[in-house]
Amino acid sequence: MTFDTLIRNGTVVTATDTYRADVGIRDGKIASVGSELPMEGARRVVDAANLMVMPGGIDVHTHLDMPFGGTTSADDFETGTRAAAWGGTTTLIDFAIQYHGQTLHHAFDTWMKKADGKATIDYAFHCIVTELDEERAKEMKQLAAEGVSSFKLFMAYPGVFMLDDATIFRAMSVAADVGAFICMHAENGGAIDVIVKRALAEGKRAPKYHALTRPTTAEGEATGRAIALAEMAGAPVYIVHLSCNEALGRVREARERGLPVYAETCPQYLFLSIENFDAPGFEGAKYVFTPPLREKWHQEKLWNALTRDDLQVVSTDHCPFCFKEQKELGKDDFTKIPNGGPGVENRMSLVYTGGVQTGRFSPNRFVQVVSTAPAKLFGLYPRKGTIAVGSDADIVLFDPEAEETISAKTHHMRVDYSMFEGIRVKGVARKVLSRGEVILERGNFLGKPGRGEFLKRRTHGSL
Ligand code: URP
Ligand code: ZN
Ligand code: ZN
Repeated sequence: MTFDTLIRNGTVVTATDTYRADVGIRDGKIASVGSELPMEGARRVVDAANLMVMPGGIDVHTHLDMPFGGTTSADDFETGTRAAAWGGTTTLIDFAIQYHGQTLHHAFDTWMKKADGKATIDYAFHCIVTELDEERAKEMKQLAAEGVSSFKLFMAYPGVFMLDDATIFRAMSVAADVGAFICMHAENGGAIDVIVKRALAEGKRAPKYHALTRPTTAEGEATGRAIALAEMAGAPVYIVHLSCNEALGRVREARERGLPVYAETCPQYLFLSIENFDAPGFEGAKYVFTPPLREKWHQEKLWNALTRDDLQVVSTDHCPFCFKEQKELGKDDFTKIPNGGPGVENRMSLVYTGGVQTGRFSPNRFVQVVSTAPAKLFGLYPRKGTIAVGSDADIVLFDPEAEETISAKTHHMRVDYSMFEGIRVKGVARKVLSRGEVILERGNFLGKPGRGEFLKRRTHGSL
């Protein structure tokens, strides 16, 4: 058997196993995994000595080229997917937004056009639902069949994205019928709105008030409500960007009762805290995203939950806005600061550093939370999310000993600051293959814009 590419001498790390093996690739797929695979005829031989051979990362929560807060997120599908690949991520799931008065298909078509000709890695979409009449409910079913098998609903941002409980319940009921997956932004938007208005009336306008007006109780309450609605509808639910212990408690309690409840957290909640708002002047705006940063003690609770499988996934919620000109829209009023932060490039290194290098969990658990669980939950497994014969050859050669300091000066995201500036990471993607093609090698990005393919996802699978 001959291979297009043969990866030799590496240590294969999947969500379940760690072993020395070669990986043979043909026609973009993994054709063989075994010891001493034949080199003869291989067009390319890649030496992976001292490297981990892992499935490419899957980031199920990004916002590329997204109009929001009076501006548009700074990375488009070219720059965002390229930055993702620099960090070892080979698949993204982004969000197509149904704005009021529009169909779900209009949202899908719009985001397909944004990605077309630009994406350098494979991508898929969730659809954000902001209105749900009978026709839109039918569209949920159609979209699920067309590969958009998950829908994000908001319990926050009144007047923009927020849905009432009845609409959420109806959407969940449709999802239950068609095997779709509901992703929930769980914060009590009504209560937060009142607190925000009070703060503004008291002249509190600095960035830190974004965090101080969005209490953990608002996230805990909404998480509990989302779970209750999903239980009544008989639907699985996935809580996005979970930031605090209160919300975690609701998820843990539901899972202990055997409910199909899942949740992700993001590196910002694992590494940053409300103390970041102590930064001078308007610098705190760099950390304005929702849910907001919490007190530091929540971090250890989240790490612990990742270890124990109370949390299943780490995504980024990558939604970059430049400090100059974009974040500055809210210079005099924190409610006008576009909500979101950059991170798609840093996820793998940060989670490896904080999770594996600290001894909190194994490299296998790392693979599970950054690749395998996302693939399984969002209908991409086993095409993506593992190293196995027949899977796409989306492979990261990960150097667990390499160290880097995160900085906006060296990152590849199209944004003028880093939320993680100065953090030292140990564990870096050295080489990245997407469907067998080497797209990142020795510090050179080789993937051409437009090579990324849209992935039609199956319906949600269990872990
Ligand atoms: O602040 C955030 N998270 N911006 C992106 C939109 C969202 O709610 O995920
Ligand atoms: Zn959200
Ligand atoms: Zn988001």
